[in-house]
This record gives sequence, structure tokens and C-alpha cells, in this order.
Amino acid sequence: MKVVIGADHAGYLLKEEIISYLKRKGYELVDVGTHSTESVDYPDIAAKIAKAIIKDGIPYGIGICGTGLGMDMALNKYKSIRAALCLYPYMAQMSKLDNDANVLVLAGRLTGVELSLQIVTTFFNTPFSGIERHARRVKKIDEISI
Ligand code: RB5
Repeated sequence: MKVVIGADHAGYLLKEEIISYLKRKGYELVDVGTHSTESVDYPDIAAKIAKAIIKDGIPYGIGICGTGLGMDMALNKYKSIRAALCLYPYMAQMSKLDNDANVLVLAGRLTGVELSLQIVTTFFNTPFSGIERHARRVKKIDEISI
């Protein structure tokens, strides 16, 4: 499984933890930065994650900033990106089951490493349910064009 991952300075340390965790589990990671705790702008990282998914065909992404809010807002501006800010494993589970999320967003300043790894594991271990009403709703999201 190939996953693109990116974070701003507030998510950098958590990104490094997640990369080593997922690599140990056999995932192929594409790291779009940032590569230190020096301040950067989360929309620039979101753009790289979105490009890797939309243009390069990487199926899933992880984005991290301090609260997760800015990264989530920026990612969801891109068509076909369904980014889900998840603070609990239950949110990650439902983001896949019902919403078919393709990007997991984490809050580097709120969610500790252990909890974040549980959220990541739940996200990747849960498939989209495929239930008709949920597919219909996801399609309606993807059709939004204004
Ligand atoms: C950076 O200080 C912070 O604003 C950013 O990481 C994020 O929390 C924004 O939503």
C-alpha cells in the first residue's frame, strides 16, 4: 500500500513517528515534507499531498498540522479529496466506513503518538462499507462544484 504523508512544522515530529511505524508494517511512504520544525505554511504541504493523490495516483494520504484544522480545510478544497480530521479511532473508522475518506488528518499538538498510531491503524484497517446510501452521499460530495 502506497501512502503520501505530509506535515507542517507542528506535525513534523508526529509525521516521523508515523513514517517509521507504517514502514515497519510494510507500507510504502512518499514523504512530501516538511523535514524540520522550522515554520512552514500548511496549505503548501496540503497542495503536495493533493497532487500526489490526484495527479500521481497514490490512493491514500496523511496530513498533519497543529490542530489538524488548517490542513483539513486546505485539503478539502481539492476535488476528489475527502480529508477527515480524526481525533479518535472511532472517527477514523467512520471516516472510512461511511465517508470513504482518502486522506487522514491528524492534530500534532493534540493527539499523542500512541493514540495517533491507533487512529492510523484503524483508518487503514477499515474499508468503505459500500452501502448504497453512503455511496450516494459520497458521490454528492464529489459532485459539489461551487
Ligand atoms: C501553526 O502554528 C498552526 O497554525 C498549524 O499547525 C495548524 O494548527 C493550523 O490549522
